[in-house]
Amino acid sequence: FNVPALQNEVVLDYAPNSSERLKLEAAIREAKSTETDIPMYIGNEEIRTGKKVAVRPPHDHQHILGYYHEGDASHVKSAIEAALAAKQGWEDMSWESRAAIFLKAADLISGPYRYKLNAATMLGQSKNAYQAEIDSACELIDFLRYNVSYLSQIYAQQPVSSKGVWNRMEYRPLEGFVYALTPFNFTAISGNLPASAALMGNVIVWKPSENQMYAANVIMEIFKAAGLPDGVINMISVDGPLAGDIIFSHPEFTGLHFTGSTAVFQAIWKNIGNNIHKYKSYPRIVGETGGKDFVLADETANVDVVATALLRGAFEYQGQKCSAASRAYIPKSLWPAVKEKLLSDLKKVKIGTVEDFGNFVNAVISEKSFDKIVSYIENAKNDPKAAIVAGGTYNKSTGYFVDPTVIEVSDPYYVSMCEEIFGPVLSVYVYEDFDEIMEIIDNTSIYALTGSVISQDRATIEKAVKRLRNAAGNFYINDKPTGAVVGQQPFGGARGSGTNDKSGSYLNLLRWVSPRTIKETF
Ligand code: SER
Repeated sequence: FNVPALQNEVVLDYAPNSSERLKLEAAIREAKSTETDIPMYIGNEEIRTGKKVAVRPPHDHQHILGYYHEGDASHVKSAIEAALAAKQGWEDMSWESRAAIFLKAADLISGPYRYKLNAATMLGQSKNAYQAEIDSACELIDFLRYNVSYLSQIYAQQPVSSKGVWNRMEYRPLEGFVYALTPFNFTAISGNLPASAALMGNVIVWKPSENQMYAANVIMEIFKAAGLPDGVINMISVDGPLAGDIIFSHPEFTGLHFTGSTAVFQAIWKNIGNNIHKYKSYPRIVGETGGKDFVLADETANVDVVATALLRGAFEYQGQKCSAASRAYIPKSLWPAVKEKLLSDLKKVKIGTVEDFGNFVNAVISEKSFDKIVSYIENAKNDPKAAIVAGGTYNKSTGYFVDPTVIEVSDPYYVSMCEEIFGPVLSVYVYEDFDEIMEIIDNTSIYALTGSVISQDRATIEKAVKRLRNAAGNFYINDKPTGAVVGQQPFGGARGSGTNDKSGSYLNLLRWVSPRTIKETF
């Protein structure tokens, strides 16, 4: 299997006055001055229903970037039909041709579409230029390229044969269509969930988050420009439960590729369970869901490393990463120094729109999200078990801004230590006993996505690695718990955090094949 050599995409730094910065600024201006009309893409058609929903930047909710067209049950049905109609042609295409389409898409993002995609992520999702560069352009390029290498690794796995017998494994796609349901927070994940299953020969109905239609439209444009045949990926914008009822009761439903909330994933799983007798095959259910990710420091930890892990882990992209550090456990002896450093660093952090590249923290995604985050902050203000030591302020008059907030709690099971808030809120518990705190960390939340231990003592590191074995699918030593890189840190968690099918590794791609064993006797 001859596939291109791999290297992660180089991250641009958008230094002031650099040509990259000027191009990105031009793409932002262009996007802001155009009202984009976002259709659904079903088969060879762009569908505009006229039921328009405005797309607005979360940091500037009076501005309209464009509209997407909301569909109904008939569009879900047409998307399924279009996918099934495209299936034979896509399956019959050589794997090299399928791979070439996605490699070309990666090159298009690396080249001409980089600025458009980043600008769309910045404006549509209020993600700053640096995070957009990492989490949308580079990560999607990496996914698309590495997936091809994973495909080649999977196809190369063959059984042994002997004289007179030739045994083969044929890595067929799943029989039916795959449903990709994607989140608002990572443009790269949105592109990858339909693309990885499609690369393995599957046909897809894709429903992006309603808060990410703007960047999703650019992704579709890129896939089409790369030569993706009509009907292989069909993008719909239909109410989730309505679409779900049609999709999950269809006999050809064969797989779900999901990233989103635990509650939605569990509701879907039940729906699939209730319909299980209707399907031709048992569906593959792949989901990455919530997190309540921890940072645990010990007494030997370097204060700067802890403060940086907290600042970046908790507040990059306003804490809206499933991997975000949202609960910290700091020893009593270290907390005064960590607190001083963290609060002084937070004072330097600028908050505002993505158009000013100096702003580190931008707006949260929506009013609904803003209100939820604020309710946790207000709860902390009124609870004697919690003290706000930074932030605690917010304002939604022009955009959904919540200041980075640090809550010091006296009860390790206080609500903000246990529940996923999905915003710029970090809760800190100051502990006395390391062994006891590991027990607590392991039992505090239903999730097990990411976690960090920060220590300069090998014995402590060893202890944490062992005791917290099931508390995180991605475990970081002396680093923040965010920012997994495709091909380097395969990503995913177990427990309430998902099926742990590790995106950014061959394990994920393995879920999108249904192998056939062939024995030929001579
Ligand atoms: N992969 C992302 C991270 O590691 C989360 O989805 O932050």
